[in-house]
Amino acid sequence: MIIAIDGPAASGKGTLAKRLAAHYGLPHLDTGLLYRAVARHVLDARARLDDAEAAERAAEALTAGDLNDAHLRDEGMGDAASIVSAHPGVRERLLAFQRDFAAQLPGAVLDGRDIGTVVCPLAEVKLFITATAEERARRRHLELVGRGVAADFTAILEDIRRRDERDRSRATAPLKPAADALTLDTTNLDADAAFRAALALVDERRKI
Ligand code: DC
Repeated sequence: MIIAIDGPAASGKGTLAKRLAAHYGLPHLDTGLLYRAVARHVLDARARLDDAEAAERAAEALTAGDLNDAHLRDEGMGDAASIVSAHPGVRERLLAFQRDFAAQLPGAVLDGRDIGTVVCPLAEVKLFITATAEERARRRHLELVGRGVAADFTAILEDIRRRDERDRSRATAPLKPAADALTLDTTNLDADAAFRAALALVDERRKI
């Protein structure tokens, strides 16, 4: 079973993907890490994030080991990843790795922006996780403060809105629900309620 989970930044899709993977005993790939690692390579090479050729070279040189860098999840890397992810040549170079991961038996859980639409269009279960930008910013702010990181709510909300806009409006593989995706709005759900709702949606889809 392939479970494809898409949604905007800080929608909680990563946490849900991890919990669903553990529940069903499936491997999980956070595909945002691929784009974050490409951005890291570009910055390390002192190139510009909007330089398509530099980003394509970085995508080509990427190894699975690059995904283990704990700093990839740092705040600034999300926006950097969003910029390199808009280059079609970068997306194309990351496709085979994601599809190979999805093809393992007995299945896999992948989360990102285009899993249900482009990477795994035949996935058995597709979920699109949403929440209002304000709620997503509130959660991200709480999480950072909880980790002792200085965080400004307004700056986080602006980052989320900018990233949503860029990810939704790019020409190649924009963020959008697949036609056969089930949407889960987590605005008024805590993490456990969101997980229960996601489980119910997966089970509903598997019965078809
Ligand atoms: O999920 P994330 O916040 O780690 O993703 C970082 C950026 O990477 C996101 O803003 C857009 C890009 N991305 C993408 O274009 N396609 C994916 N499947 C995953 C992430």
